[in-house]
Amino acid sequence: RNLKRQTMCRGDINRLNAAFLAIYDSLIPADEEKAKQKQLLTVLEKLVSKEWPEARLYLYGSCANSFDFSKSDIDVCLVMEAGNSDKSEVLLKLADILQADNLQNVQALTRARVPIVKLMDPVTGISGDICMNNVLAVVNTKLLRDYAHIDVRLRQLAFIVKHWAKSRGVNETYHGTLSSYAYVLMCINFLQQRRPAILPCLQGMDITYSVTIDNVECAYFDQVEKLRDFGSRNRESIAQLVWAFFHYWAYCHDYANDVISVRTGCTLSKRAKDWTRRIGNDRHLICIEDPFELSHDLGRVVDKGPLDLLSVPTATCIHGHAADFIKRLQQVHSTTH
Ligand code: GTP
Ligand code: MG
Repeated sequence: RNLKRQTMCRGDINRLNAAFLAIYDSLIPADEEKAKQKQLLTVLEKLVSKEWPEARLYLYGSCANSFDFSKSDIDVCLVMEAGNSDKSEVLLKLADILQADNLQNVQALTRARVPIVKLMDPVTGISGDICMNNVLAVVNTKLLRDYAHIDVRLRQLAFIVKHWAKSRGVNETYHGTLSSYAYVLMCINFLQQRRPAILPCLQGMDITYSVTIDNVECAYFDQVEKLRDFGSRNRESIAQLVWAFFHYWAYCHDYANDVISVRTGCTLSKRAKDWTRRIGNDRHLICIEDPFELSHDLGRVVDKGPLDLLSVPTATCIHGHAADFIKRLQQVHSTTH
């Protein structure tokens, strides 16, 4: 009977693995789409360098960190010395240049928390946002991309988690839920803590890459091609990891006291960071330390209201565990507020 049960479990795991991998495969952007993104970047680079020869454009966010789904928008960062003109002036000028070149839906949002110019390219059909001098985002994009190259299970897990979060409407910071960036950090931190570990802690190793941006030192081991076998002692499959991911965030993480920290590969105490109470709109219910901007809690946006909508358990284990995960957050909320 035991053997039969084991075989059935293995069968279930195999079926779940196949289902998760099918979702993952269906979400990966085709090479053709990545080529079109590059084509659009080249067009933008030409337009920008005519006006500002010293300026550079960098892709950041999911289109450059390898966690993008097919048909995603692109995030572009314009890096230049603004001289006497302020960010808004430059972005308004940029919007004029793009409009004159027949890019569509061009809009400069200069009052946003991160000011951007929005655009849509009718040739490739790709939409994008251009921000200015957000170099930390370019560097944290590299960190995520480097982690993704170490073990393919990170990319698979993050795709399933992002897919779940987008389907369930819990990937919208302006509605009190987490950003994709925060979910990917949770995946990395979870894989750093598996035993045997599937991912190392790159910021705890010899430094091979180092830049200082706005007085923030960003330094870590980036020769990730040397770490391809790092996770090979851990044989967990994607189905086991998806299950364990939700189990971990539902039952194992101490939301009341701990901070998720990719920088250290483990957790830190909320007290040490002074993230123990609500300050203004920052609730610190779930705390996720930015790997470089250490005073930045990516979980600060999480609110109780939207979480209420999510506690309806569904048939599949992934949604069931997610519901528990959310319930856990609610419990923490009610004990701390
Ligand atoms: P999707 O657009 O959902 O596919 O994911 P994305 O990876 O583009 O994520 P998101 O829109 O959350 O963030 C885009 C990029 O902005 C991230 O990859 C980070 O580089 C950066 N970013 C997002 N939020 C923050 C933040 O709070 N602080 C910093 N420093 N960077 C952030
Ligand atoms: Mg994005």
